[in-house]
Amino acid sequence: MGNCWTARIKAESPYHTGGNLKYVSNDGNVLSGSSSGKVSSNSVPPTPRSEGDILQSTNLKSFSLSELKTATRNFRPDSVLGEGGFGSVFKGWIDENALTASKPGTGTVIAVKRLNQEGFQGHREWLAEVNYLGQLYHPNLVKLIGYCLEDEHRLLVYEFMPRGSLENHLFRRGSYFQPLSWNLRMKVSLGAAKGLAFLHSAETKVIYRDFKTSNILLDSKYNAKLSDFGLAKDGPVGDKSHVSTRVMGTYGYAAPEYLATGHLTAKSDVYSFGVVLLEMLSGRRAVDKNRPTGEHNLVEWAKPYLNSKRKIFRVLDTRLEGQYSLGGAQKAANLALQCLSSEPKFRPNMDEVVTVLEQLQESKDTRTSTEKEKILNDRKLSSSSGPKHRRRSAGDVCDGNAASYPRPSASPLYTQP
Ligand SMILES: Nc1ncnc2c1ncn2[C@@H]1O[C@H](COP(=O)(O)OP(=O)(O)O)[C@@H](O)[C@H]1O
Ligand SMILES: [Mg+2]
Repeated sequence: MGNCWTARIKAESPYHTGGNLKYVSNDGNVLSGSSSGKVSSNSVPPTPRSEGDILQSTNLKSFSLSELKTATRNFRPDSVLGEGGFGSVFKGWIDENALTASKPGTGTVIAVKRLNQEGFQGHREWLAEVNYLGQLYHPNLVKLIGYCLEDEHRLLVYEFMPRGSLENHLFRRGSYFQPLSWNLRMKVSLGAAKGLAFLHSAETKVIYRDFKTSNILLDSKYNAKLSDFGLAKDGPVGDKSHVSTRVMGTYGYAAPEYLATGHLTAKSDVYSFGVVLLEMLSGRRAVDKNRPTGEHNLVEWAKPYLNSKRKIFRVLDTRLEGQYSLGGAQKAANLALQCLSSEPKFRPNMDEVVTVLEQLQESKDTRTSTEKEKILNDRKLSSSSGPKHRRRSAGDVCDGNAASYPRPSASPLYTQP
């Protein structure tokens, strides 16, 4: 569940870009067009949209609450797929053609997010998700099938992602969650990067604002899809360099300049991407109070090691030993370091990130035996000079206790006094 701030969450009203639909073709080209089929590369200045406009302009199915009750067997507690700051997500079943509730185990599997109902909290986040996921289609964004708006009830119906969130794969231990291999971590990074690159593209210009491992979902083949668009926001238009917002997000992932000023740019997402990449390389959480003093904040702790050939092994997840080439690890660590630059202008854009990650995919099997030996030697050297012990961390708990970790959830963020 969310932390104590969660009840105070607020997001800005969603905007749209002139009623145009944005979608990506199979060859990856981003198209923007109206119902006339006209494709345009000009982005239209955002205009605020009313709730009615948003709901009318999508092809989403409007579900009744009773339909979703049937589909989820009355929101059975044992079918909870996950919980975030805004609500719980349940597994359910619908008929794939009629989109009506079907017998459990038959038809299409869906994930139903039921937003917390305390006094309409979450309505804006719900509407933002309908607005963005109702318009944006891309292989690396989760598909929204429909919604329910009935009295005070706010629900969202998504395609089911069989492998759940990246967070579970990285940080939960137990027989079900084996550590993700190096190659899978690189594949997931690339997929998630492509999702962000699509959002930032000239035609779409959306800032995601809550990029973190629990919002990256995985399909059966570990294709990454971004979900949870509750905090997404239209990027700046015209000659504006940023949008001014109330500072929202998740501690450990938000860019320092955004925390300090509330000025939001696509480069804020790039910083959060750097944090997630670092979590993948290290197997450590962005913030972990169970670590020894000085290691609570992953970025602060890891940064000095990332561009050192020898010290980089102090950061890399020991469960990945023998799976990566030295060159590949350095390249990935360097990419993370660039994304984490304190100055936004020194961060790459997401297209550049995608290019580097694609190069890493292509060269993944090029490790030589000399290189393998070198990795082992460097590793020994590094561990002999590094800390001898590793304190128990949240990631070390067994499956049954894993949920007791205070899950990082989106909330208003204030700079530390
Ligand atoms: N489509 C889905 N398929 C499978 N699991 C999902 C799906 N959507 C969400 N989940 C699970 O529920 C968790 C919370 O969902 P999320 O949309 O991030 O909620 P919140 O807005 O409350 O943060 C995710 O981290 C994931 O574990
Ligand atoms: Mg979430």
